[in-house]
Amino acid sequence: MSERHVMIRLSNISKRFGLFRAIEHADFDIFRGEFFSILGASGSGKTTLLRIMAGFEAASEGTVHIDGAPMDAVPPHQRPVNMVFQNYAIFPHLNVADNIGFGLRKLGLGRAERQRRIDEMLELIALPGYGARRSDQLSGGQRQRVALARALILRPKVLLLDEPLGALDKQLRAQMQTELRALQRTVGITFVLVTHDQEEAMALSDRVAVMDEGRVMQIDTPAGLYERPGSRKVAGFIGSMNFLRGVVLGRDGAMARVQIAGGGAVCRMPADRLNGAHGDLDLAIRPEKIALHARAPGPDALAGVLRDRVFLGERVHYTVALGDGGETVIVSAPNTAEADGVPQTGSTVWLSWPETALMPLSDT
Ligand SMILES: Nc1ncnc2c1ncn2[C@@H]1O[C@H](COP(=O)(O)OP(=O)(O)OP(=O)(O)O)[C@@H](O)[C@H]1O
Ligand SMILES: [Mg+2]
Repeated sequence: MSERHVMIRLSNISKRFGLFRAIEHADFDIFRGEFFSILGASGSGKTTLLRIMAGFEAASEGTVHIDGAPMDAVPPHQRPVNMVFQNYAIFPHLNVADNIGFGLRKLGLGRAERQRRIDEMLELIALPGYGARRSDQLSGGQRQRVALARALILRPKVLLLDEPLGALDKQLRAQMQTELRALQRTVGITFVLVTHDQEEAMALSDRVAVMDEGRVMQIDTPAGLYERPGSRKVAGFIGSMNFLRGVVLGRDGAMARVQIAGGGAVCRMPADRLNGAHGDLDLAIRPEKIALHARAPGPDALAGVLRDRVFLGERVHYTVALGDGGETVIVSAPNTAEADGVPQTGSTVWLSWPETALMPLSDT
């Protein structure tokens, strides 16, 4: 990892609009060839951060380096980046080829070379032969691909994408996600994508930065964010999650014993995950890591009452109220787990999970 080439370095970037703090101390690197996403709710500062990288917005504090060079005095059009905006701004009065080749004019390339590069791009975005097509005769997805081609044809070191698929319907969006990922692999350019869609960020990215109210909460691989969210906010934002309270009772070698509030059962989890925490603890567990049993599978199982069962086809979701009726836990199981019969709502059930499934959280 240490030998990877840093393409974008954000050093302690903050941005204020008047008194409002839009970005607070963003400090991280994006590597060459990486597909990096910035994920966060509306207003969390994603676009602002992207615009600071592009040079459309000046940081109040901190420095942006791109490919080793400080960008403080470099205007947007001289930065080795290109930005694709959410509303796939392509020129309606130009045909597809002229849209794609727009930025090439100022490079002073000959006509034949321009045409060659445009054809190469049409091939890349799977629209060969569409050069003469009017822009208003394209579908939303095709227009989006033209916007991407227009940005890629200048061969930037970095492509900045602000919700590039936001205007597309669900099915087209899924298809374009696959295409975007394949495109990035083909061209090998560093992509920085802004999205509020966690599934999109997970599906596309090598790494994801999760933002909340101007702060970068956590940066990790999709699997890392899913399996090791550091905080309740990140845990709740990525996938679905159960939150529990527990008390650390003690340790047996590498394992810690934790009593779960509500059910009373004592569970084991790897002690090194606790980072020395003791006493009361916030815990999280994914619904699909929990197994539901009609009979107690062992002394460690948590007892509860089955409140609801929803059949979703491939999976079944159960809502279980723990022992004293306090906490509610959601269990998601494959439908094959019901081979022994369908549990009745109102009956007592038991929950168990692998020792590695419980995650401690650092804040609330
Ligand atoms: N030019 C500006 N002047 C004042 N406040 C601004 C300006 N631009 C953005 N903001 C504020 O900064 C915050 C972050 O805005 P930003 O556009 O970065 O959010 P975002 O994460 O991209 O949200 P969305 O998902 O809705 O696009 C918002 O509260 C916004 O109102
Ligand atoms: Mg935005």
